[in-house]
Amino acid sequence: MTAYSIATLPGDGIGVEVIAEAEKVLHAVERRYGHRFALTTDIVGGAAIDRFGTALRPETLAMCRKSDAVLFGAVGGPKWDDVAHERRPERGLLALRKELDLYANLRPAKCFPMLVDASPLKRSIVEGTDLMVIRELTGGLYFGEPRGVERFADGRARAVNTMAYTSREIERIARTGFEVARKRRKRLTSVDKANVLVVSQLWRDVVTRIARDYPDVTLEHVLVDNCAMALVQRPTQFDTIVTENTFGDILSDEAAILAGSMGMLPSASLGGAVGLYEPVHGTAPDIAGRGIANPIAAILSVAMLLRYSLNMEKDADRVERAGQHGDAAERAGGDRRPETRPKPGTGFDKHDVAAQKIGQSLADRQSKAGTAEAPGGGGVGLLKSAEDGCRLLRRHPDSSIEDIELQGRDGVGDMPDDESNASGLGELE
Ligand code: IPM
Ligand code: MG
Repeated sequence: MTAYSIATLPGDGIGVEVIAEAEKVLHAVERRYGHRFALTTDIVGGAAIDRFGTALRPETLAMCRKSDAVLFGAVGGPKWDDVAHERRPERGLLALRKELDLYANLRPAKCFPMLVDASPLKRSIVEGTDLMVIRELTGGLYFGEPRGVERFADGRARAVNTMAYTSREIERIARTGFEVARKRRKRLTSVDKANVLVVSQLWRDVVTRIARDYPDVTLEHVLVDNCAMALVQRPTQFDTIVTENTFGDILSDEAAILAGSMGMLPSASLGGAVGLYEPVHGTAPDIAGRGIANPIAAILSVAMLLRYSLNMEKDADRVERAGQHGDAAERAGGDRRPETRPKPGTGFDKHDVAAQKIGQSLADRQSKAGTAEAPGGGGVGLLKSAEDGCRLLRRHPDSSIEDIELQGRDGVGDMPDDESNASGLGELE
């Protein structure tokens, strides 16, 4: 039996909680399908700054390079706000992306039926949304030179970041865009700001040239400001979006709204020899340690890991269905192995029971409820009760929580027994 090595880097805040749940899913897949996953783990981000003075140690990077895939949580938090810019927790993640040459970031955003009414957007707008944002991840403003702050004697200062792209960088991400679109609905939207930026003009020229190799894919160019508007106006018109680093960062957060919650969005970062998988949400310091973080995005990131790094297409489908259908996920995430619990001493052990509600849960057929509050502010999450149908928790800015009953039972958990078994996650017992 082949053993696959997976490096897990939970990071900070709710990263620790959601990765613990995602690991349970990996173990469930392992047991049920006879794979062997050798998990190694290390601390990164703020936790690593506190302990080692650096967000990413060379040992951690070496461990990732030796692995078949990396499962990442999230890094950062107010605790490290005053850390010098070049040493911030986020630098650890950026260095990993760069060092592992992960230039292609895939962020699928699908409107989950049970969250349609949770979206701040109208049902008529979000229903049926199924798009993929492909974000260039190792270029543009994030890495361009020169960068830095000049401080003048009179106290004034000037700061510079550079948006730079070579035609080679654009070409390879454009090819990723066309390849992915080809496997989807064959429509690629390239997003730029070609009416203002010369970088975008080059982007547009190169993407147009590469399009000749993909005559079966329909290409359109959209300006980023217009795209931001269209995403909340007519999201169903999009299939695959390809764009540069910063635009992709912004648009993918916006796309999260279409999925009903930030807590639902997984991502895959590909390109180099080792892929990295991480939920799109951040560390959500406001809810960290309370055991209410939604691990679905981390669990869906496991599905992407199985699909893109380990070629386990069928198992990936099963985990995905689990992420989308509560009771199956419950089974996938229902294992309570002591070693997959939040690490003692991290502060999360005290919240053990609640923290495991979702990975444990997307819903317990028998139990009353499992909660999945969305990470981050003003979130929504799903709470399922087999008896009562689907419910939803909406957290308001004043921290009050509204418990909303969703229509009927046609959500996460409403699958007859036989169907849930057939749909894979049910097979993960
Ligand atoms: C993301 C995040 C990161 C980014 C941060 C944490 C550095 O926002 O993955 O979208 O800006 O890329
Ligand atoms: Mg972001």
